[in-house]
Amino acid sequence: MIVAVRHFLRFSDFSCAEIEYLFERAAWIKQRFKRYEPYRPLADRTLAMVFEKHSTRTRVSFEAGMMQLGGHAINLATRDTQLGRGEPIEDVARVITRMVDIVMIRTFEQSIIERFAAHSRVPVINGLTDEFHPCQILGDLFTYLEHRGSIRGRTVAWVGDSNNVCNTWLQAAMLLDFKLHVASPPGYEIEDERAQRAGSHLERFVDPHEAVRGADLVTTDVWTSMGFEAETEERKHDFVDFRVDADMMALAQPDALFMHCLPAHRGEEVTADVIDGPRSVVWDEAENRLHTQKALLEYLLIGRVEAQ
Ligand code: CP
Ligand code: NVA
Repeated sequence: MIVAVRHFLRFSDFSCAEIEYLFERAAWIKQRFKRYEPYRPLADRTLAMVFEKHSTRTRVSFEAGMMQLGGHAINLATRDTQLGRGEPIEDVARVITRMVDIVMIRTFEQSIIERFAAHSRVPVINGLTDEFHPCQILGDLFTYLEHRGSIRGRTVAWVGDSNNVCNTWLQAAMLLDFKLHVASPPGYEIEDERAQRAGSHLERFVDPHEAVRGADLVTTDVWTSMGFEAETEERKHDFVDFRVDADMMALAQPDALFMHCLPAHRGEEVTADVIDGPRSVVWDEAENRLHTQKALLEYLLIGRVEAQ
């Protein structure tokens, strides 16, 4: 019998209070890490990481994070496992989750991770699907908090494809009560149903300059996400006016930050002077994947911990 367990498959699986708790824990865990003070609450726990798509940040942050917390991580690439030969995801879930304590999956359709979770005995974390990338936004929001304080009531401008990262920003806007401006080329906009659910937390724009005007944070992502490579050439044409450059950034608030989940294509979705410039916090964002995911692993495996 499968006991009900908590998963992090979408940002909205957690409450606002839980996300804020994770930020507190991430700050504490980060501070200890920076002081070289060991913290190993996950001794003897094992994380399985299933990668059906490429990764650098997610792979390293989960594997290093789990090991720093005293546990172990196993990396499973599709091509090396029976998944690559067509074993049903439900069977993979039943087997793996009898052997490990927690699972992180990066895959294609959201339904794949939902099916895995439905047959899992242990918590499952979404390490990116076609629809969502909740661990990314956890790191991004923590980065905003570190640099500028609470994001409540602020405006975030998303320029480009309404992809997995954009969808997750939208869930975060609803949960943490900020506003998301989204400017996407025709044919790449947020679906109407998703937009309607967001209500006043979302404003859609045709012109990216209008979306960025007055924003506290400007963010973008690649024009072609993993899994959509066949559309690359068409997208290069369709997205040509959706590049974040210095002129566009000048329309945002004077202290506005720039974020990008990475990997980035300089000269496509963002110019080098912006991503490598003084308002960019992309390296902090990447580092904070480590600290926030350690807080997430701790929470899913041992629950709330009183501040020490
Ligand atoms: N941002 C992010 O998830 O990076 P990777 O694809 O390298 O894991
Ligand atoms: N939207 C991108 C994010 C990569 C971290 C993709 O899905 O490829």
